[in-house]
Amino acid sequence: MTEARADTPAHGSTPREPGGTRLTLAQVLEHPALGPRDLLPARFRGPRRVTGDGWVGFATRLERGEELSLVQSLMAANRHVLDVGGGIGELSRAVAARIGHCTTVEPHAQLVESMRDEAAEAGVSVFAGTAEDLPFPDASFDAVYGAWVLPFVDDVEKAVTEMVRVCDPGAPEAKIVLIVGGADSEVLGLFNDVCAPVSGDPRDHHGYLLATAARLLAERGFGEFSLHRTEASVRFAEEEPAKRAAAAATVLTDFWYQLHPGADEVRAALEPALERHFAARPHGIGDQGAVLVARPGS
Ligand SMILES: C[S@@+](CC[C@H](N)C(=O)[O-])C[C@H]1O[C@@H](n2cnc3c(N)ncnc32)[C@H](O)[C@@H]1O
Repeated sequence: MTEARADTPAHGSTPREPGGTRLTLAQVLEHPALGPRDLLPARFRGPRRVTGDGWVGFATRLERGEELSLVQSLMAANRHVLDVGGGIGELSRAVAARIGHCTTVEPHAQLVESMRDEAAEAGVSVFAGTAEDLPFPDASFDAVYGAWVLPFVDDVEKAVTEMVRVCDPGAPEAKIVLIVGGADSEVLGLFNDVCAPVSGDPRDHHGYLLATAARLLAERGFGEFSLHRTEASVRFAEEEPAKRAAAAATVLTDFWYQLHPGADEVRAALEPALERHFAARPHGIGDQGAVLVARPGS
């Protein structure tokens, strides 16, 4: 079956913005961008733990391409934007470059420090804190986004509720934007097909996270949706194929399993899988995203 694109008009819905289509909650929940419904878990698999070094190793190989442009254009008409779980701050800096300023909140001390190094110059204000307990008064921002953050929070419902709390629904361009892995993500495919069976972890289903968030957003008055796809990739330029597979196995293992007792087994399982992957796509692993935009409405 051919998968419908997230930005393909569905169910006779009306265009909302360039490349976007207005969707109801029901349309979001049944959208193929959320991934295989038969694999939908009954509950949250629990947060994935990421170390500062683990994320930096992955992030420095990540080529976001259109993801950066999409976030910038979504925020272009906003004035007070919050980036939740800013990581090393690449998206915050991109937003600040477009609108002059961006605020970010990040719990990991190492990442907070690294962002602070270039924050003032880039127009970024950096706060330490978590998505579940945002250190800002109600309605402080006119746009709030969380990129690749929901799989890492302890409590998805609390995190989304906080994002709603700090976003002013009366602002003309009010929006909450969530980016997670798309159903076609090669990175998530490697996690689910290679790592999870070795480590005994539950499969990761980012569509489940987006569905949970969408229900809550609609309940809290952000019920007008659009969904977009993005195409990023993690790049491995190493010339020699075996070295490339070994480097990629280390980057992915450190990102997902750095603190896990089964890290060595995971790395050993990833290497041959990555050699097969690179035979077809020599220097990149696709990190395709699904982007949910929620605006005030029902
Ligand atoms: C995959 S990284 C994404 C970073 C950044 N948003 C980006 O797209 O480059 C996940 C980030 O979420 C942060 N994080 C983990 N738990 C969090 C929480 N409870 N609240 C907010 N951020 C959290 C991590 O420290 C890390 O920076």
